[in-house]
Amino acid sequence: MERAKLRPADRLAALPSYFFHGLNQKIARLKAAGVDVIRMDMGSPDLPPAPFVVEALKKSADDPTRHGYTPSGGAPAYREAWAHFYGRRFGVELDAQTEIVGLLGSKEGVFNLALAIVNPGDVVLVPDPGYAPYTIGARMAGGEVVSMPLTAGNRFLPDLRALSPDLLRRAKLMWLNYPNNPTGAVASLDFFARVVRLAQANGFLVAHDAPYTEITYDGYRAPSLLQIPGAKEVCVEFNTLSKTYNMGGWRVGAACGSPEAVLALGALKSHIDSGFFQPLLDASIAALTGDQAWLIERNEIYRERRDIVVAALREAGMQVDMPTAAIYVWARLPDGVSDEKYADGLLEATGVSVTPGAVFGPSGRGYIRLSLGTPTERLREAMSRVARWA
Ligand SMILES: Cc1ncc(COP(=O)(O)O)c(C=O)c1O
Repeated sequence: MERAKLRPADRLAALPSYFFHGLNQKIARLKAAGVDVIRMDMGSPDLPPAPFVVEALKKSADDPTRHGYTPSGGAPAYREAWAHFYGRRFGVELDAQTEIVGLLGSKEGVFNLALAIVNPGDVVLVPDPGYAPYTIGARMAGGEVVSMPLTAGNRFLPDLRALSPDLLRRAKLMWLNYPNNPTGAVASLDFFARVVRLAQANGFLVAHDAPYTEITYDGYRAPSLLQIPGAKEVCVEFNTLSKTYNMGGWRVGAACGSPEAVLALGALKSHIDSGFFQPLLDASIAALTGDQAWLIERNEIYRERRDIVVAALREAGMQVDMPTAAIYVWARLPDGVSDEKYADGLLEATGVSVTPGAVFGPSGRGYIRLSLGTPTERLREAMSRVARWA
């Protein structure tokens, strides 16, 4: 008997395919053909966590009592560690019980927030270019996605005055992300204060995705949206150990702020996951509450890479702002050059893989994004190949 073909659900079939999935396949083919590929496309830190963090993991894993289930949303001590981090770093006081929920990496929470609070037809405002799960989560929840273009003319901040009163009234959720992926732009406390006032006046939730606040250069210190008085009533901020502590594969993050958002997200998650591996939490607590001095040296490594990449791309005729935060360089190609064709051509001709800006939304057309999460010598080699190809 012939077996029925499995068709994915319509809600999944309606989604665009994940860009990096296709790219990974292409890169695997090139590597199999002997090409020396240098990946500067994904924002994946290449450096390891601090040794004391890995030691804490090992020690905890050796303890026979640390292998059972843990609460979805994180054990109390893990949530306390985030409260400690926010207090020390931003002077923001958080109640670990009601204002923090642990996440299996922030991507999980970013996606699930929409399922937890967005009803069909609700407006969700998302930055363009932006991190794809803001849009995908909203679409899965049946929300109406409305893009907020981020342009060089506006220093890659959404133009809040361009949002009509009707749109703001219908908005349930606004996504922001500073320091920004992919543009490397940063936002001031003044801008955050304007956003909070808008949310208070219109009754929507602001979700601020903030994985890059601890990767900054040239003396810049990134603020938290939660520093704005009253923000906790209308905002939730997503954070993660992935970038700050070089722990992308560990899948540990948190959402902090609005008790209603934290409660809804936690309630949804209690139906989906069954908590974390406790040794991951123990090591994460060590990372969040332990010595932070090593981050200065780590950021210096990224800073050196940033300078190499920016200089090389400018030399190759691209327009590039020097980013003061995050792990990306956002480069404008010469007029008329397609980002998709450029990235594809560069990969085929030189083995250097970068991300075309259009992957992040239509306003990313004409740009490419390069990640600094590549060993410095490989990154130098990549830039010399770009120079030869230009
Ligand atoms: C803007 C942004 N948000 C969230 C994430 C996901 O981080 P995590 O590893 O915590 O899921 C990333 C990762 O690249 C990111 O760039």
